[in-house]
Amino acid sequence: MASVQTPLSTLSRQRPDSLEAFWMPFTANRQFKAAPRLLVRAEGMYYHDVDDRPILDGAAGLWCCNAGHARPRIVQAIQEQAAQLDFAPPFQMGTPLPFVLAQRLAALAPASLNHVFFTNSGSEAVDSAMKIALGYHRLRGEGQRTRFIGREKAYHGVGFGGLSIGGLPNNRKAFGPLLAGSDFLRHTLDLSRNAFSPGLPRHGAELAEDLERLIALHDASTIAAVFVEPIAGSAGVILPAPGYLQRLREICDQHGILLVFDEVITGFGRVGNAFAAQRFGVTPDLLTMAKGLTNGAVPMGAVLVSDAIHSAYMQGPPGAIELFHGYTYSAHPLACAAALAALDTYAAEGLFDRAIELGEYWQTRLHSLRGLPNVIDIRNFGLIGAIELAARKDAPGSRGYEVFERCFRDGQLLVRCTGDVIALSPPLIIDTDQIDRIVDVLGEMIRATG
Ligand SMILES: Cc1ncc(COP(=O)(O)O)c(C=O)c1O
Repeated sequence: MASVQTPLSTLSRQRPDSLEAFWMPFTANRQFKAAPRLLVRAEGMYYHDVDDRPILDGAAGLWCCNAGHARPRIVQAIQEQAAQLDFAPPFQMGTPLPFVLAQRLAALAPASLNHVFFTNSGSEAVDSAMKIALGYHRLRGEGQRTRFIGREKAYHGVGFGGLSIGGLPNNRKAFGPLLAGSDFLRHTLDLSRNAFSPGLPRHGAELAEDLERLIALHDASTIAAVFVEPIAGSAGVILPAPGYLQRLREICDQHGILLVFDEVITGFGRVGNAFAAQRFGVTPDLLTMAKGLTNGAVPMGAVLVSDAIHSAYMQGPPGAIELFHGYTYSAHPLACAAALAALDTYAAEGLFDRAIELGEYWQTRLHSLRGLPNVIDIRNFGLIGAIELAARKDAPGSRGYEVFERCFRDGQLLVRCTGDVIALSPPLIIDTDQIDRIVDVLGEMIRATG
């Protein structure tokens, strides 16, 4: 039995005495605590669970660890930074690393996105982007632009801002009216026309015209910004048809509406290139990121801001605070150190090319699961994949959960299930044998689940 004296190194590797006090996020707590899945260490492509079984990581943790786990450069950077400067106030004080990191991020980003506002999570990045958009319009004398347009099935985190433009009913329904005035584009998932499309779906570019419909309804002069994930991840991997994002950009430009890409999942090589904006050739006005920014090693998010937006803020008296917004832990020294080391690791190993190099193999292997029982769609792009299973009558989500659970227990494979979709996003260091293993285990577990 662990006591107060038990060293941390032991506590972090053994089953806790009690699981009661920790209220786990986005988890069926009672179900989990009856049969916990506990991970205690990780290296490269593998986790190890509390019984020291290696677990192949098919999810990069939670879309975060794009360079794999416990990468030495990142570990060392965090350790050294913790010893040198643990914390410093980010308001009216500075430390060197966020300035260096912001410059590095601006250099990675599309050309016009040259300014960075740091947060501690994707949710905070989204809420920050919403506030930056509102403030920008107000500074330009268009303070009536207060409405946001999101999209059905979108996930933009769990702050009240992100919830208000998010389109997942379970995340919204308990929390009241949220921000007034938001409206939603239709989502782009269309199994009837696009099921089993390799890569981007052929049909659905015309769904961008939905924005014209919302503009006609609300009038462009009331709309601050449109938020979209270039690829919706959390709702089960929803891809845009070629031309869809371009068309959103055109419509936004015609009407003075800001376009925001939420790249919390798609950033840092997940689809090839640093950001999906570059892969799709569409530049937003604001771009949110988190997760892969530090390779998941320390919480951090950020908003990339266009020159035009940033310069609108820099017009007042030099002694005036330009944006009344920020977090105690904005640009935390440990997060900055982890992010710089993550960027170095990505660059040194050419990881932003991996999703393109491996893309075809990934696609072919994933689509080999077509024809298995209950598989109703397979989607892929870059190193993202999704296998959609038919929902059981009266128990939606149970089949997906069962496959996820079997993968972990019997297949020693970590995947993600969202409803009846099995989502995949392995670290970009994956090799073809490991891709084979993911596909083989999934095939076996889908068959076993029935
Ligand atoms: C697109 C997108 N935006 C925002 C978030 C929220 O990020 P966080 O969980 O770091 O708050 C997520 C998380 O998965 C996401 O996928």
